[in-house]
Amino acid sequence: MTDEEDGPASGMKADLETITSLAKQRGFVFPSAEIYGGFASTYDYGPLGVEMRRNIRESWWRWMVQARDDVVGVEAAIITNPDVWRAAGHVDVFTDPLVDCLKCKARVRADHIEDGACPNCGATGQFTEERAFNLLLRTSVGPVEDEGATAYLRPETAQGMFVNFENVLNSTRRSLPFGIAQIGKSFRNEITTQQFIFRTREFEQMEMEFFCDAESALGWFEYWKQERMRWYQSIGVRREHLRFRDHGADERSHYSSATADVEAHYPWGWAELEGVAYRGDYDLTQHAEHSGKSLSYFDTEREEHIVPHVVEPAVGVDRVMLTLLMDAYDEDVVAGDKRVVMRLAPDIAPVAVGVLPLSRNEKLLPTTRRVHDVLRPHFRTWYDDAQSIGRRYRRQDEIGTPLCVTVDFDTIDDEAVTIRDRDTTEQIRVPISGVVDAVRDRLDELRPEVDEVTALPGRS
Ligand code: GAP
Repeated sequence: MTDEEDGPASGMKADLETITSLAKQRGFVFPSAEIYGGFASTYDYGPLGVEMRRNIRESWWRWMVQARDDVVGVEAAIITNPDVWRAAGHVDVFTDPLVDCLKCKARVRADHIEDGACPNCGATGQFTEERAFNLLLRTSVGPVEDEGATAYLRPETAQGMFVNFENVLNSTRRSLPFGIAQIGKSFRNEITTQQFIFRTREFEQMEMEFFCDAESALGWFEYWKQERMRWYQSIGVRREHLRFRDHGADERSHYSSATADVEAHYPWGWAELEGVAYRGDYDLTQHAEHSGKSLSYFDTEREEHIVPHVVEPAVGVDRVMLTLLMDAYDEDVVAGDKRVVMRLAPDIAPVAVGVLPLSRNEKLLPTTRRVHDVLRPHFRTWYDDAQSIGRRYRRQDEIGTPLCVTVDFDTIDDEAVTIRDRDTTEQIRVPISGVVDAVRDRLDELRPEVDEVTALPGRS
């Protein structure tokens, strides 16, 4: 599947400012250390943000690891032997081309200059010579700060999988093809950091290295492209807001012989959400050379040692979160009032079920707490009795809660509650004894539809 139509995707109702402000007000994302004036391009995640991030990670892990027979996980160190980064090429070639504007002194990426104008002040043609700027963040390890003590914060999680290839192979007795996955923080001294949590210096990656033989690698590359698109469908990103874009030879990273981005549509246009890269045997070969260990695999069919090739889907949790917030934001009119509603998928929304008494009347509160106790073991719930019921529904709509269960005065007599649907605002009445099943059924109905499972590639 390739679909590289240009132009804006339709239906995006929020600009970045609206999302940034909603995210702060409702407790998704805060500027980091705001009481000290913040810190450029650094964000902290609030109570709803952490729930949503956990849901994103869990959904990815379930899809990429637990629901499959051929992928296992690792968690590698963030600060590891610096030889890893020498071997992987990051110490030498992980760079951005930079120039200084002679007029305003801003340091800008040479490849971001359009028509010779400084992106900061607009002055044309007044720049220093281009220099390569390394994106690795350095630190030093141990009591003495000398060259020998220099270490790096990892710029990608991927190398943690390559350096553990042999350990995983030996400890799990895998045979090709198989994958190793990891979720964790990565760090890059990015120069151009804009657009909220789209590009930051500290971010979290979800990456999987899929090891296979050279002959089947391009088949797996296509397979993983489709599988990744299916995952985005499963978490509720609208298909028309996603597309594939194949990289030209001049754009690909130093290790890659084929790369396709999954691009999403943002307020500023199409941009990379995820990269799916065919890395060849570059990484294992480099680590074998630098470590002196043979990182090969004995192919029993061919009766020879081979160096596996690798296909890698790689994405950031933060970028997925921004994509979902942008994509889910909607405004509509309910009973003559404008409302903001986040149409998040049930598995992604920070809260799955809001539990609300009609009012703070003392007669209602014990029953509402009892209903909450019934629901809480099964779903991510939130009890709320502050302000009017209308305002509480709006607040749940705005944070994307798919269902609200409301206790009213009739409940005292009939032991039944109302389930209100975020998208349609329709309400149904169910007995408390059946509320868990009714909520579960409705959440199931709200789960997004996903394309049919991708066929596994055979050996070509
Ligand atoms: N191991 C391959 C790799 O790291 P990448 O394209 O540099 O490839 C993969 O990064 C993904 O990680 C990107 O598609 C993006 O989702 C996320 N990412 C990379 N740099 C980021 C940054 N500075 N801020 C937020 N997310 C970032």
